[in-house]
Amino acid sequence: MIFISGCKDVINDNPIDNIIIPDSNVSYSQHLAPVLERKCVPCHNSAYNEKDVDLSVWTNFVDGRIVVPGEPDNSLIVWSIEGRPPFQLMPPIGSPYAPFTTNQYNGLKKWIEEGAKNN
Ligand code: HEC
Repeated sequence: MIFISGCKDVINDNPIDNIIIPDSNVSYSQHLAPVLERKCVPCHNSAYNEKDVDLSVWTNFVDGRIVVPGEPDNSLIVWSIEGRPPFQLMPPIGSPYAPFTTNQYNGLKKWIEEGAKNN
């Protein structure tokens, strides 16, 4: 099969984007970690962490700042994915990493609302 891509610089995220996150009982390990790993961790890990944001390990970002358990609207991670001023849209425009799908964005917010558990 021939794969036609509009922009060859954008990493094909289909395998990740095909995992549908449920409306409730969102799992960090099953649903979110693989998406963060793919779309955020390349620039936010233990060795290289832009703006002191390490999204590779649950304990390093469920900290009351980047993620405020129970409060998606007060969580920096949500603002950055929305590109809510003054925060830059994440992943940055022009980077080879695809933005969150609507399902992933809603799933992240639901997971935070449900307590941002290491589940
Ligand atoms: C290609 C590299 C890259 C990727 C991929 C990336 N980021 Fe960033 N991130 C940056 C850079 C660069 C900054 C600093 C931006 C600035 O100067 O305001 C940043 C800053 C941030 C901040 C801190 C904002 C602040 O001003 O305090 C958060 C939170 C963040 N990113 C979350 C994410 C999330 C969530 C993802 C995945 C959806 C992601 N990033 C993907 C490069 C990246």
